[in-house]
Amino acid sequence: MKGVILHGGSGTRLRPLTYSGPKQLIPIANKPVSQYALEDLVSCGVSEVAIVLGQTFPELVRSYYGDGSKFGVEITYVQQDEPKGIAHAIGLCEGFVGQDDFVVYLGDNMLQHGIGQHAARFRTERHDAMVLLKEVDDPSRYGVAQLDGNGKLVKLVEKPKEPPSRYAVIGIYFLRPSIFQSIKSLKPSWRGELEVTDAIQGMIDRGLRVGYSHVGGWWFDTGKKDDILDVNALVLDERATSDMGGEATGSKLSGRVQVAKGTKIVNSTVRGPVSIAEGCLIENSTVGPHTSIGGSSIVKDSSVEYCILLEGSEVNGVERLEDSLIGKYSKVSQNAQNRRTLKVHLGDYSEVVL
Ligand code: TTP
Repeated sequence: MKGVILHGGSGTRLRPLTYSGPKQLIPIANKPVSQYALEDLVSCGVSEVAIVLGQTFPELVRSYYGDGSKFGVEITYVQQDEPKGIAHAIGLCEGFVGQDDFVVYLGDNMLQHGIGQHAARFRTERHDAMVLLKEVDDPSRYGVAQLDGNGKLVKLVEKPKEPPSRYAVIGIYFLRPSIFQSIKSLKPSWRGELEVTDAIQGMIDRGLRVGYSHVGGWWFDTGKKDDILDVNALVLDERATSDMGGEATGSKLSGRVQVAKGTKIVNSTVRGPVSIAEGCLIENSTVGPHTSIGGSSIVKDSSVEYCILLEGSEVNGVERLEDSLIGKYSKVSQNAQNRRTLKVHLGDYSEVVL
C-alpha cells in the first residue's frame, strides 16, 4: 500500500499563522502535525509516500521532510497549483499510485489510535474504497455517511443541512486506482472544489465496493487555533515523558516535564505535562500544564498555561498568558502597570507590547 499526505489548502481559518507557513507544519507537542500522519503511515508498513504541496511555502515542507530517509520512507513531492479541492489533489497522484492500493491522509488530521487496525481491515476486506467514520454532535459541518437498514453505506453527502446520520467522514481515505475515473468526471461543487465525497459517491454509483470502519478514541482536524491547543493538550497528556535533557536550578518541576538539551530553567515552576524544545530559557516564571515551547524561546517573569509557543518566541513580564498560539520569532511583553490575563493568536515575526 502507498501513502499520500495532503499538505496544500489555503488554511484561511488559521491566519495569520498560515501567511508564513503551511498549517500542517504547526507543531503539536513540538512535532509537526503532518509528521504524526507520516509516522502513522510508516507504522502500517507504508514505504512510499507522496506529499501534495500547496502554494503556502512548499519549500518549508520539502526542507523538513527531504527525501524521507530520516523518517524511514521514500517521499515523492507533487505540486498542486491551486487549492482546487481534495479530490483534485488526489487526482494529481495517479502516476505515483500506479496500480497499487493507497491511503490518503489529510496532513492536518490526527487520530488517537492511528490507522493500523483500519489498514488491516482494508487489506483483508478488499474494498475499492473505505472511509473512516466518527460519530459527531454537529454532522452538518462534515461529509456525512448515510447507511441503510443493513448498515450498508449508500450515500455520502457533503455538509448537509439535514444530516442523514451523525457519522462524519474523517480525513483519511483508503482507496484503489478505480477512484481516478470518478475524479475525472467530477464537476466543482458550490464552493468551487472537487470534493472527495463526490468522487467516492461516484464509485458507489458505479457499483464498486465502498466500505467503512468506525474510529474509536479522539480524532481532530487541526484547522483552527482552539483545536490545535486541545490536541496539543491531549497529546501531551498521553505522550509527554519526564526526560530532562536540560538544566534546572532553583526550580520546581512536577508531573511529566520533557526538556530538550541546552534548555535552562531558572527560579521557575513547571507543571507537566509540558514539552520544552532545545536551547530555551525559562526564568522566574510558571509554565504549564498543557504547554509546548519551541526551540530557542525565552519565557521570563511570566506565567504561561495551555499554550503553544513556536520556535524563537519570547514572552516577557506577562502576568498570565493562556489559550494562546504564538508564531515563530514573535514577542509578547507587558508593562508592570498593565497586568491582566492575555489570550492571543499571533503570526510569525509579530510583536505585542501591552
Ligand atoms: P481544508 O481544511 O478543508 O481546507 P483549507 O486548508 O483550504 O483550510 P481553510 O478552510 O481554513 O481555508 O483542507 C483539508 C486538508 O486538505 C488540509 O490538510 C489541506 C488539504 N487540501 C489540499 O491539499 N488541497 C486542496 O485543494 C484543499 C482544498 C485541501
